[in-house]
Amino acid sequence: MVLLWSCYLLLVSINMVEAIGVNWGSQTSHNLGPSVVVQLLKDNQIDKIKLFDANDKIVKAFAKTGIEVMLGIPNDDLTRFSEDYGGAKDWVKQNLTEHLNGGVVIKYVAVGNEPFLRSYNASYLNTTLPAMKNIQKAINEAGHGDQVKVTTPVDADVSESVGSTLPSAGDFRSDIRSLMVEMVQWLDFNKSPFLVNVYPYLSVYQNPDFPVEFASFEGNAKPIQDKGITYTNVFDANLDTLVWSLKKAGVPNLDIIVGQAGWPTDGEKNANVKYAQRFYDGFLKKIASNNGTPLRPGHLEAYLFSLLDEDMRSIATGNFERHWGIFRYDGQPKFEMDFTGKGNDQMPVAAKGVKYQSVWQCVLNKDTLNMSLVGPNVNYACAAADCTALGYGSSCNNLDLYWNISYAFNMYYQMNDQVAEACVFQGMGTKLPAPALSFPWNATCLFPIQIQNAGTRLGSTVFGLISVVVASLLASLALLF
Ligand SMILES: *[C@@H]1O[C@H](CO)[C@@H](O)[C@H](O)[C@H]1NC(C)=O
Ligand SMILES: *[C@@H]1O[C@H](CO)[C@@H](O)[C@H](O)[C@H]1NC(C)=O
Ligand SMILES: *[C@@H]1O[C@H](CO)[C@@H](O)[C@H](O)[C@H]1NC(C)=O
Ligand SMILES: *[C@@H]1O[C@H](CO)[C@@H](O)[C@H](O)[C@H]1NC(C)=O
Ligand SMILES: *[C@@H]1O[C@H](CO)[C@@H](O)[C@H](O)[C@H]1NC(C)=O
Ligand SMILES: *[C@@H]1O[C@H](CO)[C@@H](O)[C@H](O)[C@H]1NC(C)=O
Repeated sequence: MVLLWSCYLLLVSINMVEAIGVNWGSQTSHNLGPSVVVQLLKDNQIDKIKLFDANDKIVKAFAKTGIEVMLGIPNDDLTRFSEDYGGAKDWVKQNLTEHLNGGVVIKYVAVGNEPFLRSYNASYLNTTLPAMKNIQKAINEAGHGDQVKVTTPVDADVSESVGSTLPSAGDFRSDIRSLMVEMVQWLDFNKSPFLVNVYPYLSVYQNPDFPVEFASFEGNAKPIQDKGITYTNVFDANLDTLVWSLKKAGVPNLDIIVGQAGWPTDGEKNANVKYAQRFYDGFLKKIASNNGTPLRPGHLEAYLFSLLDEDMRSIATGNFERHWGIFRYDGQPKFEMDFTGKGNDQMPVAAKGVKYQSVWQCVLNKDTLNMSLVGPNVNYACAAADCTALGYGSSCNNLDLYWNISYAFNMYYQMNDQVAEACVFQGMGTKLPAPALSFPWNATCLFPIQIQNAGTRLGSTVFGLISVVVASLLASLALLF
């Protein structure tokens, strides 16, 4: 009886712990402290987090919280770990063993991040698998091999259906096929999962004729028939294309984890709260249903992308890149959802204890007479700070010229921690306390006050060091002035 009862409890608790995970990226000028994020996850019943590196202070914060952490190793380190087993051992000692001993739950290490993207021009093809093997070997040698597995997150486009839209025509991309086959066989042998990032949003973004309904989960899209299976959403089709590829590579039962899935809320016309809410609603219900995909029914482990907006992500692929957050840069929720997938949508719990900078903002001085100086100053501001909300189809696109310019000035000022030098703009900038501004407050456009940097990142923003970043937005803004 006691035995039965404890079996029952075990089953119940297994059921309960299968919650959703989330990615937490660090490409921000100002970041929420790890303790704020831990509380944010707890408050919203998110119990897994995927990181892109292994920042000591951040990982430590998850000790004894019950939140499972996936560590990451950036692509820049792949060469080092592929060549230097000693370096791999040092990494494991410092970034894994120490945290396991300290009570952090870690099951996976993601070695590299989407290393086989076509846009990387084959830069990481030679180093990814050797680096994965060295890190796993070091993990095994440290005695954690049964508990901690190495994998690498890949973009869903490692598989394709040549000349067809059918999942059953799927196979690994021809330019990397032999490498992928070698890798998945190693993952299988090592009992590691295959980590794949799936982006229905990108299907919509990249192809204007792509039906938005096929990117959601409402089942009202024109279906695709494939060997007796009916596909009504691109997520299932993408994942089953991968399942076919794995079959053809001889590892039909390799575990699959969704490393990233999400929908951005700004920066492009399809990147908006309405579509994002629709995507998450369907996706979270799907995960909770344990229906999986037609070829992989059952529970699917998944990590949403992403926890917070990141104002320093590269916008080479598009302005939407800085708006993947379920929460804003300051941990405020954007829209109603239900992380448990029960469909009881409500506003997620906001981050607690967030410290903002003072209420000052920087705007265009209304006395500015020589407007020919404005353009270069806006370009300067937007090259460093995030002006992606100003673009076509974005939340601040309907501002008038005065507020357009002021938006750019303010973003630069906030990013630079409101230092006086960051609101000069050749005499055209002026500081005002936010309540004095007659900004047409509109839920669609946020005129932000930046948070205080929690300072866990190395090389956080220093005034004068940030002129690098972005050129494409700059070019598009320059046309306007
Ligand atoms: C541990 O991880 C951090 C962050 O990713 C990295 O900077 C550091 O070099 C790693 N330690 C070792 C010994 O590789
Ligand atoms: C890849 O090659 C293209 C074309 O040669 C180039 O424009 C791009 O900058 C390269 N990307 C990387 C990451 O090296
Ligand atoms: C990878 O290895 C191949 C074959 O040895 C070589 O031709 C290629 O230049 C290497 N790529 C990189 C990025 O080092
Ligand atoms: C405005 O500024 C530009 C650039 O400094 C200068 O060439 C121009 O003469 C100025 N115009 C007026 C009306 O002052
Ligand atoms: C404000 O800027 C955006 C993009 O930079 C542009 O699309 C919009 O037309 C501008 N509005 C005005 C009134 O200049
Ligand atoms: C807010 O933005 C919406 C959408 O662009 C617009 O229709 C509305 O008039 C705006 N409201 C105010 C008060 O500016």
